[in-house]
Amino acid sequence: MSRTSRTVRRLAQGAAGTAALGLGCLAYASLYEVNAFRLRRYEVPILPAGAAPLRVLQISDLHLTPGNTARQEWVSRLATLEPDLVIDTGDNLAHEDSVPFVTRSLGRLLDLPGVYVWGSNDYYAPTFKNPLRYLTQPSRQATPRPQVLPWQDLGREFKQAGWLDLTDTRATVELKGLRIGFRGTDDAHLNQDHYDEVAGPVDRSEVDVALGVTHAPYRRVIDAMTADGHDLIIAGHTHGGQVCVPFYGALVTNCDLDVARVKGLSSNTAGGRTAAMHVSAGLGTSPYAPIRFACPPEATLMTLVAKTTPQ
Ligand SMILES: [Fe+2]
Repeated sequence: MSRTSRTVRRLAQGAAGTAALGLGCLAYASLYEVNAFRLRRYEVPILPAGAAPLRVLQISDLHLTPGNTARQEWVSRLATLEPDLVIDTGDNLAHEDSVPFVTRSLGRLLDLPGVYVWGSNDYYAPTFKNPLRYLTQPSRQATPRPQVLPWQDLGREFKQAGWLDLTDTRATVELKGLRIGFRGTDDAHLNQDHYDEVAGPVDRSEVDVALGVTHAPYRRVIDAMTADGHDLIIAGHTHGGQVCVPFYGALVTNCDLDVARVKGLSSNTAGGRTAAMHVSAGLGTSPYAPIRFACPPEATLMTLVAKTTPQ
């Protein structure tokens, strides 16, 4: 065999190996990891001294379709955790018939105190987008806007269950003797956030702990919440980067947040204050991009505990 033939054969073998590896990764991401749900647990020391722990379950980015049976079954088991509070950070829907599947999956969680905000995928049905664009720039709504989803029907179910809609709204909930102050916004990814409607310094004579809740952690929202003195900011939307590089992490956040804080517990500093921040990697994906790689779907159980006083 000539030298040229050997080189051509090696190149062909290399290309076949790369293609096989790519197909293997795709199969792993779409058949296994997309349904490899996990529960993350964090302890967050933000409560006043002497307060009893408060268990908060965050659910985000379900993107549910009637056919997502694995996701529905896993979420339906979360009620056994018996949290004190449920926070739903939006993107529940991905199909016009999804509302009963969401409420059935949440099940007994709807009997517990809960708060929620909406994400763009509650309002509008998913559309096909070039997945490579997701990795290079934040997603944008298609024009004209796609089909409207029945988010108002889901809102009626949530309200009937006693959950509070935090869309550009303040609310105070008393739990285990603690006054929990909430401020939420509408979805910043759609430019529908109006934090100015709820803005102002946190009044410690009115609340014992202050939580900011928003779907997409755009800096203008999290910085305003931080500067006002919130103890903890809770968001979703990023999907943790969704398709990540093993041992490196996310390439994108789908908003203007830095990739270092794409998911998990971190902090945010603005206006001379620092707030704890939790961004959920979420439970689902768009039906048009049903893959996750090095970024499994998740729900989070945060145990809020008393602040440790400096010695
Ligand atoms: Fe989402």
